[in-house]
Parts: sequence; C-alpha cells; structure tokens
Amino acid sequence: MLVLGIESSCDDTSIALLDCSESGHVVLSEKTASQIDIHKKYGGVVPEIAGRMHAEKIVPLIEEVLSEGIRNKEQAAAKAGPHLEAAGIKPDVIAVTSGPGLITGLIVGTEAAKTLSMAWNIPLIGTNHIEGHIHSVEIERTSQPTTGPSSLVPGPLKQFPALALVVSGGHTELILMRDHGDYTILGKTKDDAAGECFDKVAKLLELPYPGGPKISQLAATGRTDAIQFPRPMLDRDNFDFSFAGLKTSALYWLQENSLVGEYAQTVSDDLQERVTPTPSTTGGHPAQAGITLNDFCASFEQAIVDTLVVKTLRAAHHYKPKSVILAGGVSANKKLRTALESSVLNDLPGCEFRMALPQYCMDNGAMIAVAGYYHALKNDYSNWRTLKVDPNWKIDRING
Ligand code: KG4
Ligand code: ZN
Repeated sequence: MLVLGIESSCDDTSIALLDCSESGHVVLSEKTASQIDIHKKYGGVVPEIAGRMHAEKIVPLIEEVLSEGIRNKEQAAAKAGPHLEAAGIKPDVIAVTSGPGLITGLIVGTEAAKTLSMAWNIPLIGTNHIEGHIHSVEIERTSQPTTGPSSLVPGPLKQFPALALVVSGGHTELILMRDHGDYTILGKTKDDAAGECFDKVAKLLELPYPGGPKISQLAATGRTDAIQFPRPMLDRDNFDFSFAGLKTSALYWLQENSLVGEYAQTVSDDLQERVTPTPSTTGGHPAQAGITLNDFCASFEQAIVDTLVVKTLRAAHHYKPKSVILAGGVSANKKLRTALESSVLNDLPGCEFRMALPQYCMDNGAMIAVAGYYHALKNDYSNWRTLKVDPNWKIDRING
C-alpha cells in the first residue's frame, strides 16, 4: 500500500511516501523543511510564523516527494520484474497529523490532505501524532534489510501488550498499547514535558533552540554526579512525571552560583570546549570545586534519564508487557537510549526493546504514514468533509 504521510504539527513540514505492507514499510521518498533556524531567533516555536512557513512549503514538498518516490518505486519494479509494477502518480492513502500539536501547523497539513483526498478521490486518515511516534520504530530506510542491534531492526510491532514511553518537546507519556489502534495512557507529565525541560534549561544557558541535543552534546564529557539534581515524582506510586521542579532546581543552582549567563559566555561554537566557570563569590559552593558547564549538563541530563527509566521500568513490572518501545524527539538522546535498553534487557527477561532509527526520532512524515497504514487496514478512514484538527487530541480517544 502506498501511503503519503504528512506531518506539520510543530516546526517541521515533513512529507514521506512509503510502501507499507505486513512484512515492513519502506521509505520511497521523504523531504523535511525544518523551521529551526527561523524559530531559533525567538528561543522557541512561534505558532503564527510556523503556520505561514508550513503553508509556503507543503505543496512543493508533496510534489517533490511524489515524483521522487514514484521514480524510486519504478526503479525497484524494473529490478524486481513485471510482478512489481510501479503504481501511478497517486498514493493509495493519505495520512495526515490532525492532532495533537500547534493549531496553525495542524490546519495547514490537514487542509492540504483534505484537498488532495477530495481532488484525487483517495482515502484520508487523520492521524494522531503520538501514535505516529510509536510507529516510528517500524520504519525502514530502504528495501535492504537493516542490520544491527535487535532494538533497531525495524518491521511491524507484534509483541503485545507493548509499553511505550513517548518523550518529546510537548509530551511525556507512558502508554499501554494492546494492539495497533488500542491505547491506554498510564501516566503523563503534570507540567513540562522532558524535551521542554531540556529546551528551557538550555535557554537559561543561552544555548540555541532546540536545546536538548546541545545539552546532550555538552553532557557527553561531563560528570553525572557533579550536582545532585532531584529525580521528580519517583516517590509517588503512579506513572506520572513532573519536570517543572527539576527545571527550577537547575535555575536555582545557576543563580546561587551566579552562573546564569556565565556559562553561556564560555561555550565555544562547536560546543566541544570543556570549560571551568569563574568561581562564585558565595564561597564554599560546588562551583568553586570547578564544576564545568559539561558537568552541569551531564548531571541535569542524568536526572531526566534516571526519572524516565525508573518510571518506565516500574510500569513494566506492573503491566508485564511483551515489548517496551522508546519514541519521540527525546528518544534521540544517546544516554536515554542506552540506559533504557540495558534496563529492559537486564530487568525484564524475554521482553523485546524497540526504538526508532535516530533519524526517525524527531517529527517526520514517515511515522505518520506507518500509523495511518494500520488504520487503512481496518478501513478506519476520515471524511475530508468533516475531519477537523484537534490540538489536544489524546491518543486514547477517537478523533471526531
Ligand atoms: O518529537 P519532537 O521532534 O517534537 C515534538 O513533538 O515535540 O521532539 C523535539 C524535542 C525537543 O524538545 C528537543 O530538544 C528534544 O526533542 N531532543 C532531545 C534530543 N534530540 C531532540 N532532547 C535530548 N537529547 C537529544 N539528543
Ligand atoms: Zn513529535
């Protein structure tokens, strides 16, 4: 089934054409227009600007992806023989993110998809962005089998129930997935999402948006035990998260050590430099012991990773899933990937661990195509006349 995936819920206009089947999903073509350089100037995503940029990019990107994707399919068909005929210029199905996300971007993507569905008479699927992230673990880059650790070998999820930790700039959720399309939210953040916490602390350090990857890069050479940041909500007997307190602790630590803005001045362009800040005047504080920006970042990152891993393992012990899935933009974080994978493999014998290839952790059209494919299998289509965006769409609800 040829599925066109359209994603525009935040700051990426991302379009992909996938050949989806029960044996796997191959990306025939994908293009993403990132708006990061524009939003960087404002320290975060400006919804009004995002909407305008999506509107400018979306149709040319769809046109490029379709023509490149069909060309790639034709080449594959020529190699494979006459039984694998390339399809026409149209996909079989269009899947579009219709929530959750920023309303300005959602409207652009969804209206474009509705227009194509009407004009081409092709079925449409309004797709949940979080359901897309979960399905990012199934995406294959090419028709060549992917080799490597089993957690990265793509292909359809089959081990249910699955426990998914979805961590992004807007979401931190633990979801029990009983099958494709069957989800229960077990816990979520009460305030900031993990990615939001990374981004806000990065802003305090005057690091460019999005701050998560920058903090992670600096953390790679820092000491994780240099500062004892809190591990929020670990004492609560539930599967919820809270990262606002950790963000405040990070701010207080910087303020107490007169380091708000100080570290920022010491960051080199490539973010590789190991720096020691000017000793604080407060006397006897850890900053005087030479805690570097790298140490600060490593300690902060470790607090987030520990919290996510402990809560996920706790939910896994309770619900006994057959697989654990890590997805969402923050799942690109190397420390989180390693820590959760080794915890699952050591603590949950027989449980499969799955995460997306690094290039599919952040928002992308391919994951929306894969999530849409499973709805198409059940003829679970949206009507272009009535499909509406829902910026707060929870994965456990059916879209109206
Ligand atoms: O899923 P995504 O692309 O967009 C949303 O749906 O929010 O996630 C973006 C988030 C940002 O907060 C970004 O800072 C974070 O993912 N992120 C990371 C890393 N790469 C991206 N956070 C920590 N470490 C990373 N390596
Ligand atoms: Zn996302």
